[in-house]
Amino acid sequence: MCGIVGYVGRSEAAPILLDGLRRLEYRGYDSAGVAIIAGDQLETRKCAGRIADLGKLIGKDTPVGTYGISHTRWATHGKATDQNAHPHFDASGKLALVHNGVIENYQALKDDMLREGNHVFVSETDTEVLAHLIGKIYDSSGANGSTPPQNSKSRLVAAVRAALQQVIGTYGIALVHRDIPDFLVGARRGSPLVLGVGKDENFLASDVSAIVAYTRDAVYLNDFDVVAVERDKFEISSVAGEGGKYEVSKVEFTDEDIKKGDYPHYMLKEIYEQPGSVRDAMRGRLSHEECTAKLGGLEMTAAELRDVRRIVLTGCGTALHAARIGEYIIEQLAGVPTEVEFASEFRHRNTPMTRDTLVFAISQSGETADTLGALRESRRKGYRALGICNNVASTIARESDGGVYMHAGPEIGVAATKSFTSQVTIMALIGLLLGRMRHLSTSEGSAIIDALEALPAQIEETLKLTDQVRAIAKKYASVNGMLFFGRQFNYPIALEAALKLKEITYLFAEGHPSAELKHGIIALVRPDLPSVFIAPDDAVFSKNMNNIEQVKARKGPVIAITSGACGERLANIADDIITIPSAPEFVTPVLSVIPLQLLAYHLAVELGRDVDKPRNLAKSVTVE
Ligand code: F6R
Repeated sequence: MCGIVGYVGRSEAAPILLDGLRRLEYRGYDSAGVAIIAGDQLETRKCAGRIADLGKLIGKDTPVGTYGISHTRWATHGKATDQNAHPHFDASGKLALVHNGVIENYQALKDDMLREGNHVFVSETDTEVLAHLIGKIYDSSGANGSTPPQNSKSRLVAAVRAALQQVIGTYGIALVHRDIPDFLVGARRGSPLVLGVGKDENFLASDVSAIVAYTRDAVYLNDFDVVAVERDKFEISSVAGEGGKYEVSKVEFTDEDIKKGDYPHYMLKEIYEQPGSVRDAMRGRLSHEECTAKLGGLEMTAAELRDVRRIVLTGCGTALHAARIGEYIIEQLAGVPTEVEFASEFRHRNTPMTRDTLVFAISQSGETADTLGALRESRRKGYRALGICNNVASTIARESDGGVYMHAGPEIGVAATKSFTSQVTIMALIGLLLGRMRHLSTSEGSAIIDALEALPAQIEETLKLTDQVRAIAKKYASVNGMLFFGRQFNYPIALEAALKLKEITYLFAEGHPSAELKHGIIALVRPDLPSVFIAPDDAVFSKNMNNIEQVKARKGPVIAITSGACGERLANIADDIITIPSAPEFVTPVLSVIPLQLLAYHLAVELGRDVDKPRNLAKSVTVE
């Protein structure tokens, strides 16, 4: 979603701010801007459109200065226009602010200031209201311009605190003031903000990947932290004015890890990284000796794990689809009743829960507002709530009672790919662990471990299908949509495949359990709407065959994802057959999703879509 980068140091700020914004480009945005203090001028450049457009604007007349702030905006309040792009200014025009999040009571604050008479708002944004509020409090707290600089710094921090105390909503902010040299202020509540600690220079960013090229020392700010940043020092306090505790951590990836390398798109790179990322999700977590999984991060004793009577898996989008597979896996391997809840619904619903319920919040970014809301609501009600996250420094990772990290490495492509297969792998580890504490024998545990350990090589094998999938994508490049069907463990793969297709090709797509076809969906079947069936060699293959026949009888084209000998049974009926390696049912989704990720990818390329930056989408959805 929106991105923030701030810099104070000895280098020119403009190239650093622009470079940082480019590194956040994958998060999704529709306008961009910078504010730099150039001598005694507050210089700003901002526009709707891409960072390349902002780059051109800056290139024409580059502000020369060594501190400033910048932003990419994903419109919430007001359209994507030059006026609504950040930074926004206070009434004096000396204070510039960038903001991620939503100020819910902005209209009331704006009305109050409009009544005062000396505030003119030039944008439709909630951010401009916050800029005016901070500026107003700052200006009224001293004779403007006549105070010594040090005093101005503490006055500005105090004004930020006082303004934030009036705000209802979420924010990650960074601001500069024309009259206060070499000084930035940042604060967060609900929207991530990280301080990058350099030598004679410091940074603010909404995501550490924006600044990892400059420093790997980072302080992940907590909600209600306010940070005053200078070249060679920083001070963290709370919105309430108390001294803040902090820890400087080493960022666990490097600048190299977030480069595209030879791949044309991050999405393709990340699809190809899956043998390694799935291996990393299991690394050190399988015990051949005890025929089980070891998940120390859950921070639960064996007795506590044995007492779990019910599991709730929650998340959004792709993470929710991984949860849906988790439901099948955990119930099959461990026999523990498991439910899947949309985080956005679960957080506001009064679901009856029992004391022995365990909640898992699944999130690649660890910052998704609804998933975080579901985690907080679960904890508020007294349930043990664990996180399954990729981003180790994320809010969900920090606020949960324990959990499992994916260790998938940075996922930059907006369409989630490798995080999904890591999440499904972790579902299998949880199923194995809980199952071995209940009814699974050592030989069953061993067989599960063997199946898991075979996955990385089987994913390599599956990736070799890319040319075949590209040819299929070319063949169907003129269709207006696709239907996806699967049963049991592969029903959620139908959902995930449809989501991938929608996200990056903008084609109509729906995923359903195969058997639902005859309950209404069959009305859609026609010669120009292909149906993709995920029908591997499993206990429900012949049921899938019946549904395939029903589609073919109505002249609908069929693409089948299958395995083992089932390819032969499909030979005379499916139009295209993609054969993946054979695997036990509970791990098949990790393999069956790969040709479907590739299908969406190749179709999007064929249609000339911007694969890594699909329209209207953001990587990390930090608003409700
Ligand atoms: C789909 C996609 C989204 C995310 C969803 C949750 O490709 O990327 O549907 O899966 O926004 O994001 P996380 O996992 O970061 O909570």
